[in-house]
Amino acid sequence: VHWTHEERAAITGVWGKVDHDCAGTETLVRLLVVYPWTQRYFSSFGNMSSVSAIAGNPKVAAHGKKVLGALGKAIDNLDNIKQTYTALSELHSDKLHVDPENFRLLGDTLIVVLGNKLGAAFTPEIHAAWQKFMAVVCAALARQYH
Ligand code: HEM
Repeated sequence: VHWTHEERAAITGVWGKVDHDCAGTETLVRLLVVYPWTQRYFSSFGNMSSVSAIAGNPKVAAHGKKVLGALGKAIDNLDNIKQTYTALSELHSDKLHVDPENFRLLGDTLIVVLGNKLGAAFTPEIHAAWQKFMAVVCAALARQYH
């Protein structure tokens, strides 16, 4: 993947502006509410019976933070995302059996959350750079599926 100087600045700039833990929690909550079938992978997380149950579920919050932490590794390794995610892709494929279509849903959900947080500062150019970044992340996570 080739990143322009502007794309790199758009990706790292947004990352520097948002609270990662908060964005991670919000993203996972929103994913589980808007696409309720994604709940099937988190049966060990306990109560997901309503929006407020999901939003108040500490395991969901902790896991959202973990996912954003992993995204931070991709941002630190923009030129090496595939290798950065080899083990994580194996885990989601072989062990967790997560349908990779869900990565795309999570990426789109995160972009909604970022847009919500940044408002007008989330310009079309920044949006496009994040769409590209999440597409690369999704491809890397889906890479070890067979
Ligand atoms: C676990 C990252 C998308 C389901 C994890 C872990 C990380 C991670 C870092 C913890 C791994 C460990 O404990 O070693 C990501 C990233 C994603 C993504 C970066 C996309 C950008 C998804 C999606 C789903 C999912 C879309 C399902 C809808 C799971 C499950 C676990 C997990 C079920 C295990 C949770 C547990 O029992 O603690 N993921 N993930 N992931 N992920 Fe993902």
